[in-house]
Amino acid sequence: MKFTFCALLALSALFASSAASAADNAGQPQKSGQEVYSSVCMACHDSGVLNAPRIGNKQDWAPRIAQGYNTLVKHALEGFNVMPAKGGAANLSDQEVAEAVVYMVNKSGGKFKAPD
Ligand code: HEC
Repeated sequence: MKFTFCALLALSALFASSAASAADNAGQPQKSGQEVYSSVCMACHDSGVLNAPRIGNKQDWAPRIAQGYNTLVKHALEGFNVMPAKGGAANLSDQEVAEAVVYMVNKSGGKFKAPD
């Protein structure tokens, strides 16, 4: 519990400063959620590979969305069962992964605010 709380704190600190997370990818322009989705996440989340929740499918996403933004972003960053950490693209910044989560959720019946 204590660990989870610290991890959430660390995450919110990351999201509080896009400058800090942009430094993860020093020199590279930040990808949008849509770009990250199309280049990485789509491989599984378009057609539901390995039972991944499909983009645009509200039924797949409703129980996930109910967990809240912080949990979904944490699972996308750290991995969750067969969902690989950062979708397997370790070069993505935390901010880019968070943007991709927001992009997917908002196409699937959710209303998350993009991290700034
Ligand atoms: C190799 C396939 C694969 C790729 C690539 C992938 N995912 Fe997933 N993802 C999954 C699977 C499978 C699940 C369902 C895991 C489960 O519920 O056991 C999942 C679940 C999730 C969830 C829901 C987690 C939860 O707590 O319910 C989020 C959010 C997510 N993925 C985000 C992303 C993002 C963002 C990317 C791209 C950066 C991505 N995924 C790329 C396979 C993938």
